[in-house]
Amino acid sequence: MSDFSDFAWTAENAAEAQRLIGLYPPGRQASAVMPLLWLAQYQMRDETGVAWLPVPVIEYVANQIGMPYIRAYEVASFYTMYNLKPIGRYHVQLCGTTPCLLRGSDEIMKACHDKGLKKGATTADGLFTLTEVECLGACANAPMVQINDHNYEDLTYATMRSILDALERGETPATGSQIGRTASCPEGGATTLKEMVGG
Ligand code: FES
Repeated sequence: MSDFSDFAWTAENAAEAQRLIGLYPPGRQASAVMPLLWLAQYQMRDETGVAWLPVPVIEYVANQIGMPYIRAYEVASFYTMYNLKPIGRYHVQLCGTTPCLLRGSDEIMKACHDKGLKKGATTADGLFTLTEVECLGACANAPMVQINDHNYEDLTYATMRSILDALERGETPATGSQIGRTASCPEGGATTLKEMVGG
């Protein structure tokens, strides 16, 4: 694949695309544009190592659902979850919205900068892209980042640095809360409702 004009679904993704289109009533297949673009971005990651949507891939999706290219492009360019240019192997999406800011997202940004990541850019080795984003819905465990498909929560400068170092070494750091919380349980353990009511 060079200019991506020969992009086509894998057999598995072709079946998944049909399933996704089938979720919508006849004549409304264009409603499947978002999951199809998402599926295409995953396939690009699997085939090229980079999760993004070149123009021919967006055209391919638009053609399948009878949608003008420009409308599919409007969707792809509206949502930050679609990457319209190549990104690094690890897409670090750092939440800078108020709860994360109050809990130290500046320190997390500093950890990224000190590791050589720059906001809106990809590192020279192609490993990391850093994007500042709005709330990712994990405010209870702020500050947090999303890296590819996983959240890393309750971060500090030190834990953020160690996560980036681990990824650089090809390791798989533990996801979720970095201080051992289960989901969004209170930090330090339960303070109320400590005992189950019998019966
Ligand atoms: S404010 Fe950061 S996850 Fe909601």
